[in-house]
Amino acid sequence: MEKFFITTAIDYVNGAPHIGHAYEKILTDVIYRHFTQRCDKHFFLTGTDEHGIKIQKTSAAQGMSPKELCDMNSQKFKDAWKALCVDYDKFIRTTDEYHEKVVQKIFKKLVDKGDIYKHSYKGLYCSGCEAFLSEKDLTEDGLCPDHQKKPEIVEEENYFFKLTKYKDAIIKHIKTHPEFIIPSFRANEVLNQLENIEDISVSRATSNVSWGVPVLGDSEQSIYVWIDALSNYITALGYDIDGDSDQNFKDFWPATVQVIGKDILKFHSIYWPAILMALDLPLPEHLFAHGWITIDEAKMSKSLGNVISPTSVLEAFNIDIPDPLRYYMATAAPCGKDGNYSDEDFKEKVNAHLANSMGNLLNRTLSMLVKYFEGDIKPEFLEKNELKEKALETIKSVKHHFDYLEIQEAALRIIELVDATNKYVTDNAPWTLAKEEQMEKCGVVLTNVLQVMTVIASLIYPYCPNIAEAMAEQLSYDIGIKLDNIDCEYIKAGHLIDKENIKPVFLRIDSELADKNKK
Ligand code: ME8
Ligand code: MG
Repeated sequence: MEKFFITTAIDYVNGAPHIGHAYEKILTDVIYRHFTQRCDKHFFLTGTDEHGIKIQKTSAAQGMSPKELCDMNSQKFKDAWKALCVDYDKFIRTTDEYHEKVVQKIFKKLVDKGDIYKHSYKGLYCSGCEAFLSEKDLTEDGLCPDHQKKPEIVEEENYFFKLTKYKDAIIKHIKTHPEFIIPSFRANEVLNQLENIEDISVSRATSNVSWGVPVLGDSEQSIYVWIDALSNYITALGYDIDGDSDQNFKDFWPATVQVIGKDILKFHSIYWPAILMALDLPLPEHLFAHGWITIDEAKMSKSLGNVISPTSVLEAFNIDIPDPLRYYMATAAPCGKDGNYSDEDFKEKVNAHLANSMGNLLNRTLSMLVKYFEGDIKPEFLEKNELKEKALETIKSVKHHFDYLEIQEAALRIIELVDATNKYVTDNAPWTLAKEEQMEKCGVVLTNVLQVMTVIASLIYPYCPNIAEAMAEQLSYDIGIKLDNIDCEYIKAGHLIDKENIKPVFLRIDSELADKNKK
């Protein structure tokens, strides 16, 4: 792989980040970190979507200017990603001056090309979706199915983008690139939607929506969300029309993976390819549409009062690293399916997987090596063995799962290896071997386990970077080794474990404390 460029959806800043936003950014960061272990040239883009009627209305209701609301809330997103160790390379805001300028140029280019035209229009507008809906999109009661709100009737003269011109090319692209839409079961939905597409409105009257990028040379109209929002993926790399782009754009476009929620797949698999085709730019390699996160099996909503912020979870459980939440979220659902968050399940899963199975295994083994051998790996402790074969198989299957963006599935393979290693320890009972003074056999068992633990540390790193680094430090192992180069031979004869370093990498979450904090 030559380069790896991954993007997330850019979040609306009319509120603070919630656990659904965090789910997407964590998933993306896990994928990103895995591919940094396989490739040297990589870029991770995220950011915030700051224009549109929703921001305009929310800021007015809060007695602020739209820009003030954007500044305040986009900072909350940045703070949350920092707390979760979401390690992006660039954070774009659609109110960035460079972005706005290039969006205007893109718009003008499409007007000049004849792909954007003016047309008077009457339609049903849902401000929750920031989109026009057709009658057949609505519920029986005439409500938007996603927002349960009656759309407004909007009658305006708007600019329209000739989506229909690109329909056949997009259908062809989807059919000839089965890896374009992941999971593949969503591709059929998109092909069905493509059957009925029409040209789309890409501007709003400034008198109705003032908080937007003005159309160059037409101050009556402002560019309406999707051309503005979708263009972030290229303006963030320094794209400029007519070949004036920055080196970053030349190096990284097209994106390797664009991570988005299933609710905005239509915009990314139809509108976005059409815009790219109109600009004569290549399409992203993969669109990864993840599912949605519910809270205790209920849809998260302000009216239900069950919206949770990712940092409040860390605070309630008094956890000083984000790793458990990252692990839990990244493994919450099979590829592309919906997942759920519950406090109880969170606590149980991370205690079982990270503290009991993985953390204890390392701690027990290191302690025994220190107790019986003063932390020293002797030449006679090294042998070939089946557990190590399984570790090498696990590296292969984890890579394979990541190639298909099966992030939960990859983690299951890692935990299977942890479980197999625990079973190996139980079956071979090194403490009994030591008691019986079969010291060489005992040393062999402990060494095998530690050699496999180096592989486990590397594989768990994308999910739990802090825990993996602590594991590596105790193993005197270099967590920066590329996946292609890892095997079980890093721990060699003469390798010394420093007993001063040994401490639990992750302590069980205490539920009483969490209950108390929640009250
Ligand atoms: O759609 N579970 O912004 P947004 C999982 N600005 N993912 C969720 C979720 C949940 N409960 N709730 C939201 C927008 N998301 C646009 C995107 S991209 C050029 C413009 C995901 O703040 C959602 O699916 O409503 C989307 O991918 C992202 O969070 C931002 O949602
Ligand atoms: Mg949304």
